[in-house]
Amino acid sequence: MATDPLERAREEFLAALAAAGRDAARVEAVRVRFAGRRSGLLRDLEEALKTLPREAKPAYGKALNELKKLVEERLAAAQAQAEAAGRRPQALDVTLPGRRPRVGALHPVTLVRREIEEIFLRMGYSVADGPEAEDDWHNFEALNFPPDHPARDSQDTFFLAGGRLLRTHTSPVQIRTMETTPPPIRVIIPGRVYRCDSDLRHSPMFHQVEGLAVGEGITFANLKATLEAFVHVLFDPRLAVRFRPSFFPFTEPSAEVDITCVLCLGKGCPMCSGSGWIEILGAGMVDPRVLRACNLDPERYSGFAFGCGLDRVALLKYRLPDLRLLFAGDERLLRQFEGVAR
Ligand code: DAH
Repeated sequence: MATDPLERAREEFLAALAAAGRDAARVEAVRVRFAGRRSGLLRDLEEALKTLPREAKPAYGKALNELKKLVEERLAAAQAQAEAAGRRPQALDVTLPGRRPRVGALHPVTLVRREIEEIFLRMGYSVADGPEAEDDWHNFEALNFPPDHPARDSQDTFFLAGGRLLRTHTSPVQIRTMETTPPPIRVIIPGRVYRCDSDLRHSPMFHQVEGLAVGEGITFANLKATLEAFVHVLFDPRLAVRFRPSFFPFTEPSAEVDITCVLCLGKGCPMCSGSGWIEILGAGMVDPRVLRACNLDPERYSGFAFGCGLDRVALLKYRLPDLRLLFAGDERLLRQFEGVAR
């Protein structure tokens, strides 16, 4: 029979397709082998039609058409199945060890902020905060910076539309606290501050923590004892604390406070420029003019204040070499603080 090759081709095709299963690449190989335009088996069988005797052609042609239709339909079905199988998720190997979830880390500045808050909470202080967009009264005027006083230049202020400014220090929250809270006052005020200044040692945004104690009979001796206790708990009880006379508009007398270098314990190293001392704070007795600006009677009340750069404390505490590390958002730094929960 002239149609025998067609019958054989049909059987071969069905067997090959069954063997390919739902593997898309193998289904495609079957398509090329049987229905490929240039060299597929169907094409050869079509060529063979031309060589047949005339009377055999109609039966052969009809059988060939039926075979073509079958091949087309079965291929389409197999392709659809293979595609659906490819979209299904891979089998799950439940014997593999699980992936340990990453635990986040607190930023070093957050760690020292919380630690400082805790130290002062234990000494009876509470934590206060205030707006970062401040007004001139709280940031300067009430703190005894007169208008046009050169001390304002030292603060490199960012001014905002509408007469406000980005606070240049946390000291304005001293004023806000004294305006709203009757003495005795004991507050610690951490926060972000801003100065138009950017180089290796300065960032336009940085962190300070401010302290304020106001009451009857508060003296410079109380300030010294408080700061010494603070330094000894935060860093190391072996450190000495040194007060150098200084000037701030809002304190009188004023001091800059140094501690023994935490790295060399006073021997002298690059961190302390060989001096054995590191400056960490500004402090002083609240100026009577500041008390008066907040409607407190300087004859009755006195107080001390201090301000400290949090970022620098974080660098010292965690032995970090460069201020910019704190603001670069580099995971390699932050990961080192994983599990340091405070
Ligand atoms: N506000 C000062 C500054 O940003 C720091 C400071 C110094 C705060 C002395 C104080 C203080 O409360 O008594 O440079």
